[in-house]
Parts: sequence; structure tokens; C-alpha cells
Amino acid sequence: MAAVAVTPAQDLADLQGLLVRGYGNLTSACFLLLEIDEPDAARAWLALTADLATAADSRPTASSLNVAFTSSGLRALGLDSTVIEMFSNEFVEGIATPFRQRLLGDTGESAPASWAWGGPNGAPIHVAVMLYAVDEGALATLRDAETRRAAAHGLRTVSILDTVDLGGSEHFGFSDGVSQPAMAGLGRPDRSANTVAAGEFVLGYPNQYGLLGERPVLPRSADPMEILSLDVAGSGGADLGRNGSYLVFRQLSQDVRGFWRTVDHATRRPDGTSDPVRRTMLASKMVGRWPSGASLVVTPENDDPSYAKFNDFLYQDVDRDGLRCPVGSHIRRANPRDSLDPSPGSSRSLEVTNHHRILRRGREYGHRVDVKTLFDEVGEDEERGLHFVCLNANIARQFEFLQKTWINSPKFDGLHEGDDPVVGPRQALGDTFTVPASPVRTRVRGMPRFVAVRGGAYFFLPGRRALRYLASLGD
Ligand code: HEM
Repeated sequence: MAAVAVTPAQDLADLQGLLVRGYGNLTSACFLLLEIDEPDAARAWLALTADLATAADSRPTASSLNVAFTSSGLRALGLDSTVIEMFSNEFVEGIATPFRQRLLGDTGESAPASWAWGGPNGAPIHVAVMLYAVDEGALATLRDAETRRAAAHGLRTVSILDTVDLGGSEHFGFSDGVSQPAMAGLGRPDRSANTVAAGEFVLGYPNQYGLLGERPVLPRSADPMEILSLDVAGSGGADLGRNGSYLVFRQLSQDVRGFWRTVDHATRRPDGTSDPVRRTMLASKMVGRWPSGASLVVTPENDDPSYAKFNDFLYQDVDRDGLRCPVGSHIRRANPRDSLDPSPGSSRSLEVTNHHRILRRGREYGHRVDVKTLFDEVGEDEERGLHFVCLNANIARQFEFLQKTWINSPKFDGLHEGDDPVVGPRQALGDTFTVPASPVRTRVRGMPRFVAVRGGAYFFLPGRRALRYLASLGD
């Protein structure tokens, strides 16, 4: 489809807020996973929810609600299967198919069959209601009100996923949420290297290829009340996708003691004692940033918190061989910036990478590990981790590509053994981490898996008009 000059900035009131902000000021959050029992009652619930959903044009200071649906959720609401088939294959089929299990590396303890939710053996997940509030008290009030309102409309609560505020860090102890892509014409402006077309995240706008991506466009007759916007490509159809996005949700458990024990063993002095400086250095090499968030490219020898939020760096000129930030580190895989073919260091290289960006909106869960027991030879006492949430317009080209081709691949960018040292699944040849150094690189072999998948689903985060349209089905 041809490109059209439109920007989502003109339509902010129709976008759900999560597309433009992660609600960092609303430090308490929980996610309600619901199953629809009764379509009429669920649509009545949705009519109210469409009004309650926080729009992107407001900056809430007390609380916020966003709502998303799986493809089986859309079906349970009464959306016709011919319309559902217009959504992307990944979304329609769902995250837990045998094909995606292989693609995403969800094997062994991460297999969907043993997931706490979203797997083939659990209750169906139809809806995610994402609640954010300024403190735990306000969140408890909102959560109780929303679970009661859902129950009153026959929506069964399958699970409530709680979160924890670790003050901007994730459980391994590193600052998180530093690097995000900016959207052209929407939100904060950024340098061009980090700015991608709004259509990479918001459906119904031109993407990095200048095209309007795949999305459900209905015949006008399917929207007799003219709730939806018209297809900007001029087909005359009603665009159910416009101002929506796909939301990937993965509950990722983290073995925090396993991570630090491994790093500690690998950096011990010849006399067998721990070396805290080398230990922090190796862990930071694995992540690609220091615990403060400072980039290893910018400050390679020691952590410098004055660079904690600094994100304006590339790899090729300063660090082609990964002597500062290893080629295999988590952030260099997750966003290789200008380091990949064709012609590393060129704008073409950046352009290619920018076809695979995601907006991250995750929240941590579970208690912070007691630092006094960080290196103890014991199993994890309780589960903790990251509710990984990301938004993208094309799950296959963005989230799935990133997970499969960059994070899980032992052959990433010229490497030949070793997947992502922090989050990789350690499939064949995946358990070695190489730290480039001159004259001799070092290798950590036999790295165990630190991150396992405990649940997940692909959701559609509709625009607010689309929410009202879905609520009107059957009227
Ligand atoms: C428990 C699992 C994970 C942990 C602990 C984790 C941790 C981190 C940390 C500490 C950073 C650096 C700070 C920042 O730039 O925000 C980061 C960046 C990033 N992570 Fe993860 N991550 C996890 C899973 C994932 C997964 C599954 C993906 C994608 C499939 C991913 C994609 C990214 C991206 C795109 C960046 C930004 C890279 C950049 O632009 O430089 N992460 N992560």
C-alpha cells in the first residue's frame, strides 16, 4: 500500500497511552488477565472500558488503564473470523504454537506446556487490563474496582500479575529502560539515528519502508454507525487497526543468584577469592552497560553515573571489534545500531537495524534478592523477574526477529558460539560468552540459562475508536 502523509500526533486522543509513555511516574502496576464467558456482557463491560482507557493525549498523575485483547479474545467478543484473519498471522495463531516455541527458543523449562499462564494447558487468556497507579494504596483500590467490574460482566479473572518497583533497575541490578526508539512526529524528538517512523509502532501510518503495514480494514458496511476512521490509503474501508498496536507480553523469570554466582566464579583470583571489580566488569560486559546504565562504549573502564541516561552513541567508529562493549552483549544484540552489514558505520546499516526496533514497557515482579545471599549456593527461594512488555506494528519483523536472529543466535554478527549472555536460551552452541580483548580475548564457557519464560501471549492494543467499535458488535 502506498504511503500517506499523516501523523498520529493529530490523533493522540485515539491512541492508548502506553504507546507514548511507560507511566514511569506511576510506580505501582498490575495486569489483570481475563477470560470472557459471556459475549454480550463482555461488550457492555468494554463500552465502559473504552471510556476509562487512558488516551495518549493525557499525562495521568494518579492512575491509568490500558486494555488489550488476544485473537481468541476478539473471537470471544464476537468479532467475525473473516475479520480476525485480517490481523497478522503471528497474532492470530498466538505465541504458544509449536512453530513459535522453536522460533523463540521456548524449550525445556521455558516450554509453553509448563507456563503459569498463556500455555496450552491453562485457561484461555482473552483480555489484559493494565493498571498503573501512583502508589500501592491507589493501585489496590483500582485493582479491586476493576476485578469487581469485570466479574459483574462475566469476565473471569484468570490471573493477576503483580509488579514491584525497583527504582528503575531490573533484578540483576542494572538500570533498565534507558534506550527507547523515538517515533517521528510523536513524543520527544531525538537524533535521527534513533528516530523511526511512527508506523513501526502505531498501525495505520507509514512504516520504515514508507508503507502502511498489514492491518484489518473492514468494508464500510461492517461499521454502520461509522465509529472507525476511514482507511487513509483511500480504499473506502473502515480501519479497525488504526491507532492500535501489537503488544507482546512475556513473563520472564530471572535466576539472580545463578547469574551472580556464575559471574563470581568466572572472575575469581588465582587464590580462589572473589574479585568484586572484575565481577562487576564481566556482568557489565554481558549487559553492555554498567549498573548505573552508563554505556561501556562511552566509559569503558569504570562505571560513571553521570552517563547513566546517555544514549547518543554508535558502535562502528569507536568500538568496531567490541573491545569496549562486546559484540555478543545483550544491548548490542538487542539494538546493534550501526554495526551490522551492509556497510557497518553507514546510515544504511542504521536503517536496516531500525526495521527491528521495539518499544519496551516492562515492569519487574517479585521481591528484590537479599544482597547478603547473592552468591549463596542455594536455589532461588521465590520467583522474581520481568514482565516483559513490548509494542510493535509487526511482531514477526520486530519482536520475533530480534529474539530469534539476534538474541538467540550463537552466530550473531560474526560470532560462532554463544547466544545472549543475559537472556539467551542456551540452545546448541549457545553457552559461551566471548569478551573481546587485546591481545587475547577471554571466554566464559558453560553459562547456564538465567532467564526462563513463565507465561506469555500476543495482544492487540486497539485505538479507542476501535474499542468502541468492538463494544458495539451485536448492537
Ligand atoms: C529478564 C530479561 C531481561 C533483562 C533483565 C533485560 C535487561 C536489559 C538491560 C539492563 C538493558 C539496558 C538498559 C536499557 O537500555 O534500557 C536492556 C536493554 C534492552 N533490552 Fe533487555 N532485558 C531482558 C529481556 C529482553 C528481551 C527478551 C528483549 C527483546 C526480545 C530485550 C530487548 C532490549 C532492548 C531492545 C534494549 C535496548 C537496547 C538499546 O537500544 O541499546 N530485552 N535490557
